[in-house]
Amino acid sequence: MEYRRLGKAGVKLSELSFGSWVTFGDQISDDVAEDLMIAAYEGGINFFDNAEGYAAGRSEEVMGKILTKLGWPRDTWLVSSKVYFGSAPEPKKPNQTGLSRKHVFEACHAALKRLNVDYLDLFFCHRPDPETPIEETVRVMSDLIAQGKVLYWGTSVWSDEEIMEAYTVARQYNLVPPTMEQPFYNALQREKVDIEYARLYKTVGIGTTTWSPLASGLLTGKYNDGLPQNARLSRESYGWLRDWVLKPERLDKVRAFGNLAKELNLSQSVLAIAWCLKNPHVSSVILGASKVHQLSENLKASDAAKKLTPDILNKIDEIFGNKPKEHSNADNH
Ligand SMILES: NC(=O)c1ccc[n+]([C@@H]2O[C@H](COP(=O)([O-])OP(=O)(O)OC[C@H]3O[C@@H](n4cnc5c(N)ncnc54)[C@H](OP(=O)(O)O)[C@@H]3O)[C@@H](O)[C@H]2O)c1
Repeated sequence: MEYRRLGKAGVKLSELSFGSWVTFGDQISDDVAEDLMIAAYEGGINFFDNAEGYAAGRSEEVMGKILTKLGWPRDTWLVSSKVYFGSAPEPKKPNQTGLSRKHVFEACHAALKRLNVDYLDLFFCHRPDPETPIEETVRVMSDLIAQGKVLYWGTSVWSDEEIMEAYTVARQYNLVPPTMEQPFYNALQREKVDIEYARLYKTVGIGTTTWSPLASGLLTGKYNDGLPQNARLSRESYGWLRDWVLKPERLDKVRAFGNLAKELNLSQSVLAIAWCLKNPHVSSVILGASKVHQLSENLKASDAAKKLTPDILNKIDEIFGNKPKEHSNADNH
């Protein structure tokens, strides 16, 4: 496992990290969640990703119990939470979601309690909130940092302009600017990281903890012949995700990608994750898994990335219809 700085910040994250969306407190048992955390930690992962909205707070409770039980030294791992969607039961009341000073403050305290930690290493604004001035959110994040409850704050799926505004407001009022962004990033959905955020790496120095490296499993090829049982996109309550990810025109690309993986003697999941790692602006690729054998396989991506030549990256670009010259890393890694 390699460790990368979070943008210009000094803190180092394992280049592969592990998140609990869909799985913890919902799809999998707490025992499997524990086995996954152990496999991740023993594989060198030091960053565990979570959010108030995952399984309505249960995901944080499960992770908190596991971290407490396993008792790993606090200086060997980082944990995150994210605020915006809220954890209260539906229908949520007006201040139980969003990025107002009130909700961010309360969500932070609730996450500390559920995760059973004294501070959150990373705290993300899970989406932009058009009903809260960015200055209000920057100020409360700065205050939480000053209070020692959060070490680094960041955004998730914000636009380049919104992140720039947060940075500018922070500089104007001597507050703490965002350190990181958490965007989706895989060979099918690469525009935000590769194109939209290009200026932010230099000006703001943001790091990125990227999500859905397998496009929720699509890139593994498991949906090539329909919906398998017990897979994420087959779950009834995730129809919205199925519609977003499982587009018929993508399947031919995924099949061609599968042929390339075979030629390289790699699994599709390893090749897809290794592709993400080739981008130097990615600080950490957050993995998801519902089974330990999936995670063990996916962890091989660190080694595989070292063997991906510019020629292979160009072939991947061709398969997915990306212009090779746009690949930020094709000729320098
Ligand atoms: N900030 C945000 O808005 C945001 C959004 C989404 C995710 N995230 C974070 O990023 C993390 C990772 O995202 P993700 O879970 O969407 O990642 P992903 O890698 O795209 O999907 C993971 C899922 O794919 C399937 N899978 C994984 N490895 C496999 C393998 N080797 N073979 C077959 N199937 C495999 C598993 O689902 P099944 O076994 O159920 O099919 C697994 O849960 C999340 O846990 C969360 O922490 C953040």
